[in-house]
Amino acid sequence: MIIEVIEQRRNIKEFTEDEISEDSVNYLLNAAIWAPNHRKTEPWRFIVIPKNSKMRIKLANHIKDWNFKNAASKDKKVKIQIAEKEKVKILNAPALIYVYYIQDSNPEVDKENYSAVSCAIQNLMLAAHEIGIGVGWSTGKVCKANVETLIGAEPDWEIAGALFLGKPKIQPEGKRKPINECTIWH
Ligand SMILES: Cc1cc2nc3c(=O)[nH]c(=O)nc-3n(C[C@H](O)[C@H](O)[C@H](O)COP(=O)(O)O)c2cc1C
Repeated sequence: MIIEVIEQRRNIKEFTEDEISEDSVNYLLNAAIWAPNHRKTEPWRFIVIPKNSKMRIKLANHIKDWNFKNAASKDKKVKIQIAEKEKVKILNAPALIYVYYIQDSNPEVDKENYSAVSCAIQNLMLAAHEIGIGVGWSTGKVCKANVETLIGAEPDWEIAGALFLGKPKIQPEGKRKPINECTIWH
């Protein structure tokens, strides 16, 4: 039942070492592109960074350097620790996908494109959950670290997030407020 998949999907940050196959990634990207999109702009763009690829290693080093330079702490030891931790996170993710959407000079279309790409990500996450794959959606350091040129994103693409994928180590508990707290029903 789709409602079970919707309710049970959680944002996953810890993964087992199980591999995620290229076929699985393609299966999930196919789920993503069937999202609704106004004016049929199909604004989503995906960049897959396979585990152990040269690009994954380059990206991990780039993120490490960025974190070292941009760490809030001034303590060199702490900065090194943070940078290493972020590097390991990138290297270890069984699958990693950057998701962008095409920006539009018309603010209305731009908003629609961001909405559409968010729907695409949700499609991907639900399809993943159904086949036992967890997804962590991040808009954190992994996105802020100016990775565009390195990974080949076009200048008119705006980042929607980085998706970490793998078999979940644990199933976190979900929590939502009751619908009457967010609904006006006349
Ligand atoms: C646009 C967006 C950005 C997010 N960015 C992050 C992030 O940077 N780091 C993170 O840990 N979770 C991030 N998340 C996941 C949310 O924290 C997560 O969905 C929320 O805690 C609810 O948990 P659930 O998805 O398991 O129900 C993001 C979610 C969305 C929709």
